[in-house]
Amino acid sequence: MPQFERIAIFTGNAHPALARGIAQQVGRPLGEMVVRQFRDGETQVEIKDDVRGTDVFLIQPTSPSVNQNLMELLVMIDAARRASAGRITAVIPYYGYARQEKKTYGREPISAKLVANLLTVAGADRILTLDLSAPAIEGFFDIPMDHLSAVPLLVRHVMKMHLPDIVVVAPDVGAVRRADRFQQVMGGKPLAILFKDRPKPDEVSVQGMVGEVQGKCALLVDDLISTGNTLIAAAELLLAQGAERVLAVATHGVFAEGAIERLHASPIERVVITDSIPLPSQTPGVEVVSVAPMLGEVINRIHYGISVSDLIRDLV
Ligand code: R5P
Repeated sequence: MPQFERIAIFTGNAHPALARGIAQQVGRPLGEMVVRQFRDGETQVEIKDDVRGTDVFLIQPTSPSVNQNLMELLVMIDAARRASAGRITAVIPYYGYARQEKKTYGREPISAKLVANLLTVAGADRILTLDLSAPAIEGFFDIPMDHLSAVPLLVRHVMKMHLPDIVVVAPDVGAVRRADRFQQVMGGKPLAILFKDRPKPDEVSVQGMVGEVQGKCALLVDDLISTGNTLIAAAELLLAQGAERVLAVATHGVFAEGAIERLHASPIERVVITDSIPLPSQTPGVEVVSVAPMLGEVINRIHYGISVSDLIRDLV
């Protein structure tokens, strides 16, 4: 018996297509909620359905436009709380500001923590998210968080390509755990690690490598692609080190302006991404794996109080 008799799923304006896919998986229609902007730019939300005592799931990646989408989510949470929702879960397939999870220089904010505070103060009871850039962000919340990974879904997709002689490559030290998990889920593959430096924001230089890539099919594994500079610089180094071919997989396709074109023109043969973020209409050379079935299944499990960890184990 679920703790809350009723369940309702709503979407903001960030990614309605993903929300529809998730709702379909859950087997419920999307709830009616108006999320719009006043002429002065302020966000206005109105929940049309009765949510009193309901298990409410609000789907909104805080992807670009990050501030707008984050504000929408906060106002949606506030509206649900004031409408006496029984429980509010913020489903954030992409957690914006996750790359600002620590101070690198003096006098910097820790914006990922600020976002966690904002979500909690607004009234979220739970968070459901996917492949955080920095897993330590989980500790920024004192409410339950289900932190999922798209790695099993991406591995399944890659397995279907039947690539020979794979070496899994972490494009920087921060990506090592994810790349290692990827190779384990693949059933054990060699691992290589690159050393990346950022001389300036959005600029990348790859300084060196540990591992053997000579004559191999190098599979770069990262959490997100923004400018694409990390993957392109990594691919160039891997080819210079003798890799036969280079492919790349990542969970979040942030794709800053020009990134798709740069990746398409780069030596990277194929790029695989999920739909955690809405993708541009034209994405030549990019293959998309949907996270909607997994998120829908997890929402059902949260609602019915069934283990989420068991599902993750089953996916692997
Ligand atoms: C950390 O740096 C991340 O894991 C990604 O490697 C990075 O954010 C990708 O950004 P870009 O595509 O702009 O190099």
